[in-house]
Amino acid sequence: MAIPQHTIDQILDRTDIVDVIGQFVKLKKTGRTYSGCCPFHQEKSPSFHVYRDKQYFHCFGCQANGNAIRFLMDIGSRNFVEVMKDLSSQTGIELPKDNHDSNKLKYKRQAPAAKPAPAPAQPKEAAKQQPAANAENTNTQTMPHTADFDPFAEFYPQEDAFYGSDPFSGFEQYTAPEEVAQDGNLYDLLENIAQFYEHQLPHSQTAQQYFKQRGLTAETVAYWRLGYAPEDWQHLEKAFPQDIEGIKLLGLIRTNDKGRSFDLLRDRVIFPIRDAKGRVVGFGGRALNDEIKPKYINSPDSEVFHKNQQLYGLYEGRKQKANDWLMVEGYMDVIALQQYGVAGAVATLGTASNTEHLNILFNQNDKKNNRITLAFDGDAAGQKAARRTLEIALPLLTDGRELKFFVLPNDHDPDSLIRREGIENFRRLLDTSPLLSEFVFAQLTREQDIASPEGKSQVMGELRQLTELLPPKGSYRYLLQQYFREKLGFNRKWQPQVNTDASLSFSTKIDAEEYVIAILMNHPYLYIHFEPLRALVPQDQLLFKVLNIFNVIFDDLPDDPELSSYYALGACAAHHHELAQILQQANVSDYTSSPEQADKLASDYATKLSYHFLKLKLKSKKFGSIEEMRNLKHQIYEIDKKRSMTLLDD
Ligand code: UTP
Ligand code: MN
Repeated sequence: MAIPQHTIDQILDRTDIVDVIGQFVKLKKTGRTYSGCCPFHQEKSPSFHVYRDKQYFHCFGCQANGNAIRFLMDIGSRNFVEVMKDLSSQTGIELPKDNHDSNKLKYKRQAPAAKPAPAPAQPKEAAKQQPAANAENTNTQTMPHTADFDPFAEFYPQEDAFYGSDPFSGFEQYTAPEEVAQDGNLYDLLENIAQFYEHQLPHSQTAQQYFKQRGLTAETVAYWRLGYAPEDWQHLEKAFPQDIEGIKLLGLIRTNDKGRSFDLLRDRVIFPIRDAKGRVVGFGGRALNDEIKPKYINSPDSEVFHKNQQLYGLYEGRKQKANDWLMVEGYMDVIALQQYGVAGAVATLGTASNTEHLNILFNQNDKKNNRITLAFDGDAAGQKAARRTLEIALPLLTDGRELKFFVLPNDHDPDSLIRREGIENFRRLLDTSPLLSEFVFAQLTREQDIASPEGKSQVMGELRQLTELLPPKGSYRYLLQQYFREKLGFNRKWQPQVNTDASLSFSTKIDAEEYVIAILMNHPYLYIHFEPLRALVPQDQLLFKVLNIFNVIFDDLPDDPELSSYYALGACAAHHHELAQILQQANVSDYTSSPEQADKLASDYATKLSYHFLKLKLKSKKFGSIEEMRNLKHQIYEIDKKRSMTLLDD
């Protein structure tokens, strides 16, 4: 069973690692950490630490480490799925149904009435054995199969060879070779219907003309498997007479007041919707002109299609190894962007984007490089939508996740904009779209006179309301406040002395440990990133001492950025002399230009130092057991892996 990352995250969100481990290990709270005797190796003094904020455990002794799932797997020698099943019943968050033993995908196929025809799964190969299309079976125009008659001929150079004896062209029945009725599978049926729609496209000039007029190349049409649903009221029933029950389960047949049934999608161009694995799960159908309402009809939710958890373009974006995800509104936006070379655009399916959608996107990437951009219209409705999405997104913004806002010029959507601007201009606009901090600042100050004290305090009040939505222990809320205060011109009474002229300084280069100390003293909330370093930094280093002090004071840090800096300085008074020197030499102002930057810097430094100390430890050969060495190597390997990923990203 494949468990999607967003489900894993949901379950982890509702599981507290301290509770989980507390059932196996007697834990004692000291400062911000819980410690006890490690269950994975023999020891008398406790070197096993559990961090509630990070939901992470780490043993100083044997280097065992991980999250709650890892702990449960190791402690009980159980596999991932077994552990997840337990956690699922404890948290009430359901795991996806196991497709293989789910009866919900099955439907009863009717016994074949006609002669055996090709098996549904290989219609293209089977096509060659089929007799020519039977025109009586269809009310739709079937095009003569001559290249010169075809306005789209250049788009389908192989049309004759490929579609000439198309078994679908006359809605011929598809029946399994076996004469007995058997169970059908909804995924297979959806795939067959998608192929059916695809194969109808060359037979409709208007549908081909439609795509052409919207600027799509044949390659794009094929890539997205675009198709056409004919006008015929019962084309699906005719093409798939054995599968009526399945088609009904998919909601592709409607019944009118008189009890007569007809196809949901008729005389529309078809956008098949694929799930994250690439399986067709539903369809969107667009009218061929804008007079016809509704413009789009989407197939309804079904056993395999859940619009609230589905993003159009996700599968394709993953295939193209997209890193930056862009949330747009429509099918055509996703497709146009892809055609122009912008990978990673996704759209919801006619619904507003929700927590689930955003979580899916955030979970596509490595935690370190985790950015999504929301595109929205510049008009009032667009602003409102952006605000609403912002409020949904804020609780998901754990450290390391970034949100950008791409405000579109009036009367444009990404599809029309990229056509007007071309790829280069479009990319420039996209790349310069504001970060969350800038965007929120612009939003909150739009209707305020920020020169006046009243205006400033109004803005800070509204900001506080928004930051309440952020995850409780992240550094974002603190950084955002600091950013706002600086932008609004609140003067900081205390500022580390900055030496900007390098030539005047004797020791211009300070080492990474000292830089981390400078970051900490300026932005105490960034301690979150450095907490795990406590297990690795040699105990005689100043950094070790500072980290230990932070471990004790962190919970009591004042919310106010400035006060928290004072507070930290006070707590570290014993090291005043060394700190003063470091603060004088470290130029920390260059990373405060945005909260996102400060956060990223801290996380990069934490990784860099972990790596450094892990290597040092491995080299020193001061480890107790083979197991510990293996754990060290594994951690180094994990960082290497992440690094090479980020290198590729750049
Ligand atoms: P828009 O109305 O913004 O259309 O709908 P669009 O994407 O620009 O479409 P084109 O360019 O005219 O073809 C955005 C999205 O909202 C959903 C569809 O998913 C569409 O892509 N929608 C729209 C519907 O579900 N039903 C509708 O009637 C209209
Ligand atoms: Mn559009």
